Amino acid sequence: MKRREHWGSSLLFVMAAAGSAVGLGNIWKYPYIAGQNGGAAFTLIYIFWVVVIGLPLIIAELLVGRASQKDAVGAYKKLSGPNSPWWLAGALGVLTGFLILSFYSIIAGWAVAYTFKTVSAFLFSGDFLALQTAEESEAIFIKFSGHPIYPVVWHGLFMVICIYIVSRGIKSGLEACNKILMPILAGILALLVVRSVTLPGAMEGIEFLWYPDFSKINEESILIALGQASFTLSIGMGAMITYGSYLGRSENVPKSAFWTASTDTLIALLAGLAIFPAVFALGGEPTAGPSLIFVTLPVVFNHMPLGGFFGACFFAFLSIAALTSAISLLETVTAYFVDEKEWSRKKAAWIMGGIIFLLGVPCCLSYGPIQDFKIFGKNFFDLLDYLTTNIFLPFGGLLLSIFVGWFWRRRLATEAFLTGSKSARLASLWFICIRYVIPILVIVVFIAKLLGKG
Ligand code: TRP
Repeated sequence: MKRREHWGSSLLFVMAAAGSAVGLGNIWKYPYIAGQNGGAAFTLIYIFWVVVIGLPLIIAELLVGRASQKDAVGAYKKLSGPNSPWWLAGALGVLTGFLILSFYSIIAGWAVAYTFKTVSAFLFSGDFLALQTAEESEAIFIKFSGHPIYPVVWHGLFMVICIYIVSRGIKSGLEACNKILMPILAGILALLVVRSVTLPGAMEGIEFLWYPDFSKINEESILIALGQASFTLSIGMGAMITYGSYLGRSENVPKSAFWTASTDTLIALLAGLAIFPAVFALGGEPTAGPSLIFVTLPVVFNHMPLGGFFGACFFAFLSIAALTSAISLLETVTAYFVDEKEWSRKKAAWIMGGIIFLLGVPCCLSYGPIQDFKIFGKNFFDLLDYLTTNIFLPFGGLLLSIFVGWFWRRRLATEAFLTGSKSARLASLWFICIRYVIPILVIVVFIAKLLGKG
């Protein structure tokens, strides 16, 4: 048996965990669903879920991973005994990771494509910069995303980069990549926020983000906020179990989890601050939906001084954030095949990455040739997104909290919590959240949603 690789230091681990958390969820999804669900009111509910459910669950996942030193399925198996059905909860997680990456990589591919387009337009003044109106921008976006070949190629390129990084392992793959990219990410974001909030007329966007409109809140938006909190923190599918399994005994897990969750939330809020003031200042539509950043922003950038430069920065920022998250999704799937099926890391990453690529193709085409193919009124892409984000992730989180709260004995769970962190008070607060608060809240939200529909 090879010795399990471990993260080089606490800081590098937090960078990797935050790299997983900060992604398209923060920059692409959060602004548009906040825009559609009441702005500030939605943000408050989302932050509530992050504190009450998100943080305790990240801690729980990391502890389960560290205690077992195994992938998501192996962790449940090891802690619950070989004949217990709990491994199924881990298997649901691995499947979820598989499905999420197949649509995640499509948007990531768009981001990479838009980075190239804006950079080349900035350098050579191509047609991208000549965009004047939202209609023009939308036409370009529809032509690009609906093309039967190009977006698939960008999706493939993005997957190849991911697979390459994951196949190199923890230290020279994931850690090396996060160590370089996370500081760049922070730098670009700071630049964009300053640019956006100093535009004349930015106040309206800030108001939209900070003054709550509670009339837009209903069961659906509460569930969406819950899904969003799980998605953006990378919890509910064992990604944090997997990252935790590369931790040594001395790590202070609650502290690292706290930094991961705060960085993630802060970056979502800052991304909102980089986007909305600019959108309002330049007369864009804040409720535009998934295309907000691909349709509205290019026009916005085009109307500001040095817009080509800021546009290129923005899409590079988006691509980097997507990459550091996507590798955590692929790592979760890969670790399962490495630990449980004893495949080599290279083989697992390439084969699974390849299958994910193939599954992504229909997602990609659901913006073009097969957009009229609908199941439950949603195209293939939206269906996968809705199912995984709003159903599988909260459900996976529910299973994990029941497992840790009721089956992994309290003594063991608390002991794990207290290795590294010394506060017994915090440990019992955490345990109460896991054992009672999370299961009850998640079940209530699910039931409310079901009844609300019926
Ligand atoms: N958190 C990432 C984002 O916000 C996406 C992501 C990465 C994820 N790994 C995950 C979501 C694991 C759920 C589970 O973009």
